[in-house]
Amino acid sequence: MTKILVTGGAGYIGSHAVVELVQAGYEPIIVDDFSNSKESVLAGLQDILGRDVTCHHIDCGNADALREVFRKEGNVQGVIHFAAFKAVGESVQKPLAYFQNNVGSLLTLIEVMNEVGVENLVFSSSCTVYGVPDQLPVTEATPTKPASSPYGRTKQMCEDIVHDVAAADNNKLRTILLRYFNPIGAHPSARIGELPLGVPNNLVPFITQTAAGLREKLTIFGNDYDTPDGTNIRDYIYVVDLAKAHIVAVQRLLDRKATEPVETFNIGTGHGNTVLEVVTTFEQASGQKLNYAIGPRRVGDVPAIYADATKAAEVLGFKTETSLSDALASAWKWQQTLK
Ligand code: NAD
Ligand code: WQD
Repeated sequence: MTKILVTGGAGYIGSHAVVELVQAGYEPIIVDDFSNSKESVLAGLQDILGRDVTCHHIDCGNADALREVFRKEGNVQGVIHFAAFKAVGESVQKPLAYFQNNVGSLLTLIEVMNEVGVENLVFSSSCTVYGVPDQLPVTEATPTKPASSPYGRTKQMCEDIVHDVAAADNNKLRTILLRYFNPIGAHPSARIGELPLGVPNNLVPFITQTAAGLREKLTIFGNDYDTPDGTNIRDYIYVVDLAKAHIVAVQRLLDRKATEPVETFNIGTGHGNTVLEVVTTFEQASGQKLNYAIGPRRVGDVPAIYADATKAAEVLGFKTETSLSDALASAWKWQQTLK
């Protein structure tokens, strides 16, 4: 079986990708330091898959440890690099930790991949690279804007790094950059899902925790934006759909079908929803009345962003399948297992 190293494979998106990799016939090898995940994820994966998944408990920014994993595993064909810190607000307070982990681990990973002759990389980028876009929906050609946080800057820097590596004469690395929009929901089994530590920053875990009685109420950050109901617009993509995009990206690299050393794809639904639409859809999908109030705008929020998903559809054959309602229902089912 084709071995794919999955850094951050115990995390929210990575764990869902691990499931899809196994189901598509790959052998995922998880590398995770559990800095933002729990060992219990491995038991969830075991339940879903009916078998263990190999996991190396290391920091992928540690070159020696990473080298040892490649040596021990032998014949790894590609890497999906999820491992990173992802909290926007925290990145403002701890910029060095974010540059060190997000940029540093990519540098180390590419160096070690070079040494051991692994040439295929799928990288977790983000719609955050577009900043506040001038046009909607955003295509891959939409110019990126100055990032509004150190976190966003790390994603822009990582994209630049793989482009610079690709331009070098001796380059063998082929990379697919996947720019995710807003991932939500959990595996239908409710055995893996999002595990925010502390008070969630993201909308959907805040909603489900409020519905579960763990938070008193949701504050909607502003209703005076230039959108149909005044609240922000985002492109919410079901995490299992997002996970499947990694399988087609990996397969494209292995089949040597990539037409450039670095290819970039938006991974979203192509539709935007307002915060109020998410709240209403959640209420309908879960049967729970949500306590919420309108509050002030959150500093740094983009008024509206959603993907033009045409390139992923045409080139990768990737399309999302799951409705917002079903994705929110899965998030609620998962939340209820956490009580
Ligand atoms: P997550 O925090 O749930 O998963 C990341 C995993 O990486 C965690 O298990 C963590 O323990 C691990 N990790 C972090 N640093 C590591 C290191 N140096 N060595 C080994 N393991 C390490 O986050 P997620 O939501 O699954 O995000 C995965 C990737 O997708 C990240 O790169 C993130 O920036 C990107 N992304 C996330 C979103 C989102 O909204 N969740 C959106 C766009 C892009
Ligand atoms: C969604 C909407 C909020 C919480 C972040 C990162 C981005 C990417 C995805 C990684 C916004 C509103 C939220 C709340 C609210 N991550 N909201 N009340 O900000 O679109 O993107 O995650 O790359 O880089 O910035 O996601 O889930 O925080 O917010 O009203 O309590 O919900 O204002 O409009 P965001 P989010």
